[in-house]
Amino acid sequence: MEKSEIEAQVRDYIMKTLGNTVDKAQNSEFIVAANWKMNMSSKETVDFLYKTKDIQVTDNIKPIIFPPFPYLLLFQKLLRYSSIAYGSQDIAKEDNGAFTGEVSGRMLSDCGCSYAIVGHSERRSYYGETSELVAEKAKAALKNDITPIICIGETLEERRGNRYKQVLYHQLYAVTSSLGKETLKCIIAYEPVWAIGTGVIPRMEEIEDTHRFIHEYLSSNVPGGGNIKLLYGGSVNEENVRDISKVAYVSGFLIGGASLKVDKYKAIIDILKAEYGNGHK
Ligand code: PGA
Repeated sequence: MEKSEIEAQVRDYIMKTLGNTVDKAQNSEFIVAANWKMNMSSKETVDFLYKTKDIQVTDNIKPIIFPPFPYLLLFQKLLRYSSIAYGSQDIAKEDNGAFTGEVSGRMLSDCGCSYAIVGHSERRSYYGETSELVAEKAKAALKNDITPIICIGETLEERRGNRYKQVLYHQLYAVTSSLGKETLKCIIAYEPVWAIGTGVIPRMEEIEDTHRFIHEYLSSNVPGGGNIKLLYGGSVNEENVRDISKVAYVSGFLIGGASLKVDKYKAIIDILKAEYGNGHK
């Protein structure tokens, strides 16, 4: 067994024994991921980046922006001296070849991406992406040194029918059974489909319960899996981010609508900095 795996298992054990306090102290980096979806123009992108250049990134707050593909090169050019990271909203499972319309991990890496969102619910529902394809895409990202942010989440019907844990289990199983211990290099974003773009968010107890379920699944199915970062996404804004950040096992956010307005995005970062600026969740 590798040293890092042993360390991860020891941390897992301590986590289980001492509970969440250890998680808060050790896993204190907050990811603030901005998913722009199919929005913004090149002018708006430049303007946004100009206005975010004064963000002082602290060790424990990590902003990552996910613009549409055509603007990635602008990020590469304009963020060269910034510690804001960026990535793509999707990735092909192949590296190159006759796949019209696809963009590969090799190309994304060439454009300076260090992250890629995979399996967003909009891709699963509008473009028929299966959990198995999502796992293939995550593999393609890792192969190109890109960290995949793998999205999972249930629909309202599945939540109401109390089937959400089965759905999440299936989505997670597809990833862990295909990636094995490579899952440790991924980030998981829990995004209830019914909370995306609706202004409705689950109750804090529901977020905690679901994140705990995901955490426990990962802890028992991947050695060291208890350390995998879990993000929450779905109608996050500057009004609710503080409360959600306090929920156990939440170590960051995937933000859509509220990330399109630079003032809102900066406000969210400022709230998290004020709350956790000293490095402790
Ligand atoms: P939202 O989107 O913040 O607009 O709800 C989140 C997402 O889809 O990642």
